[in-house]
Amino acid sequence: MRATVGTDLEHAAELLCSGELVAMPTETVYGLAAHAFDPEAVLKIFTVKDRPAFDPLIVHVGRREDLSAVASELPPGSEQLMDLFWPGPLTLVLPKHENIPDIVTSGLDTVAVRMPAHPIALQLLQKLPFPLAAPSANPFGYVSPTSAQHVADQLGAKIPYILDGGPCNVGVESTIIGWEPRGQGGQWVIYRHGGLPIEELENVIGVTGSETVHQHPLAPGMIASHYAPRKPVFIGDVQALMRRNAGKIIGVISFQNEYVAHSCDVLSAGGDLAQAARNLFAALRELDGSECDVIIAEEFPDHGLGRAINDRLNRAAAARH
Ligand code: TXA
Ligand code: MG
Repeated sequence: MRATVGTDLEHAAELLCSGELVAMPTETVYGLAAHAFDPEAVLKIFTVKDRPAFDPLIVHVGRREDLSAVASELPPGSEQLMDLFWPGPLTLVLPKHENIPDIVTSGLDTVAVRMPAHPIALQLLQKLPFPLAAPSANPFGYVSPTSAQHVADQLGAKIPYILDGGPCNVGVESTIIGWEPRGQGGQWVIYRHGGLPIEELENVIGVTGSETVHQHPLAPGMIASHYAPRKPVFIGDVQALMRRNAGKIIGVISFQNEYVAHSCDVLSAGGDLAQAARNLFAALRELDGSECDVIIAEEFPDHGLGRAINDRLNRAAAARH
């Protein structure tokens, strides 16, 4: 099989209806989508990605009314969160509806769901009479794809079709939150920092930054070696790390500063964290595919999208090589 890359929504919808996989653009990263109510179609996602069965998928909906077939109830504040942030890079972990096969949620009684903001993803979802289960369209553990070409490079031989929606304009995966019965009734807990900065969420659900950030054992975005290039990644004081790696071919990822190295990817010369997030995964991929021996990255400012960037870089650096 060799994937066709195109913009044919009809064809994508037909493939999905017949239980095939389609890579689709979202505003965060490209997803590898399957009919969410069809366990055999969903199984193909795990096979193609070489993803362990314990790592649950995100279900994507194109209409709010589709949620009633995905989640069995809505915890307090859900409606307000959806009003404010959907479509967009916010995933809610909700009690699961029995329609959702266990393979989608890795046997959990909760389901992760979001409405993506990319117009092509929305058009596709709105054409279909079922939601789409879709993790990021990369081999398990590798950097997520932010262009159709990234998907074609890695999964092109294993899937029939890649819907091309151009480069993703958020560039890091969605922020994931879940309602947990704690304290007085319950609270929203952040499972993964992502494309929606928590500063925007705090005003609504009252979480207080990193204090409530919870290393959820069931959110394998939390697995240390996630988002990992094959090359070693080091984060911190770039000059010091360059000295420590003297003699090696060095690729640098920086926020605004230029460094004299074999190559230096400045993610946003103007200091815009959203632009930096947009460029992050393409830079990691490019350096990983280059002749560099090591990748050295600055630590980003720890606010707004900088938190998601630092999280991905730290996981890339935590990988065992
Ligand atoms: O932006 C995104 O979130 C992208 C696009 C395609 O929507 N999707 C994505 O999926 O990044 P990915 O590969 O990260 O996989 C879904 C992650 C799981 O690894 C897990 O961390 C979390 O979602 N997840 C799914 N179901 C969950 C659940 N019931 N409880 C806790 N975490 C869950
Ligand atoms: Mg992923």
